[in-house]
Amino acid sequence: MNHRPSIELKLRYIGEENDIVCLDESFFINDNYQIARFTFGSQILELYCLQSASTDFDLTGQMVWPGAELLNNYLSKNSDILRGCSVIELGSGVGITGILCSRFCGEVVMTDHNDEILTRNIELDDSSKNSACSAKLKSAKLEWGNSEQLDDILQRHPEGFDLVLGADIYILFYTFIYYFSSFQQASVPLLFHTVKRLLDVGLKKKCRFILGYVSRAKVMDDMVIGEASRHGLRITEVAGTRAEIRNLGGVIYEITCP
Ligand SMILES: C[S@@+](CC[C@H](N)C(=O)[O-])C[C@H]1O[C@@H](n2cnc3c(N)ncnc32)[C@H](O)[C@@H]1O
Repeated sequence: MNHRPSIELKLRYIGEENDIVCLDESFFINDNYQIARFTFGSQILELYCLQSASTDFDLTGQMVWPGAELLNNYLSKNSDILRGCSVIELGSGVGITGILCSRFCGEVVMTDHNDEILTRNIELDDSSKNSACSAKLKSAKLEWGNSEQLDDILQRHPEGFDLVLGADIYILFYTFIYYFSSFQQASVPLLFHTVKRLLDVGLKKKCRFILGYVSRAKVMDDMVIGEASRHGLRITEVAGTRAEIRNLGGVIYEITCP
């Protein structure tokens, strides 16, 4: 399985063809986080995040995205589906969905390929008055398509999870190569590879994947639906969940093994 290439920026100065400067990912990380407060139904969450996307190495992870708002609103109105469940979240970002779930669930594992801010937000949640809930919150590094990392998580959860969650996690990214020319790559196939494994392992528990989807490009809408069916999964729109979020069209999808 191919993993996403690590991002490496190489600059070549005109007239100095042999001088190549390599910048590693720490150069791009903005950790100027601030505590922000969010309300979903009766739940108030406080967590560290950025107010806007930064030039971090994946350009995405450290703010709250519209898909998380959509999914959290849905989950807070339908908290019965979470009660007592074990949950794994993919691409958790700052962890706002997983932390909300921990108010209702038996256990929550939040995952991301960049889990630095997740750890900070678990500590923050731990130190708050909700610490009774936080005992159930864990974070783990998980890059979609990375079998070793997934094996590691599944070793600790051999029966899998009741629910897989994701919000705004279908990514098109650009990798910059010489002279800033770029190519575009989607991580959706790898995402669905990981989802399929989790749904297969959790088959006895009737595990399902709930995706907070916000449409930004037709190519991505088609890719998400296409990859779900290419992996033999059934994707259905949850009735009554179409909503406008920050001027974008959103919907909740439920994805299962048929
Ligand atoms: C747009 S953000 C959404 C974050 C959060 N779910 C939300 O809605 O606020 C996408 C998240 O997916 C993570 N991500 C992107 N590509 C990934 C990959 N290949 N493997 C694991 N996580 C990835 C990013 O680090 C980021 O946290």
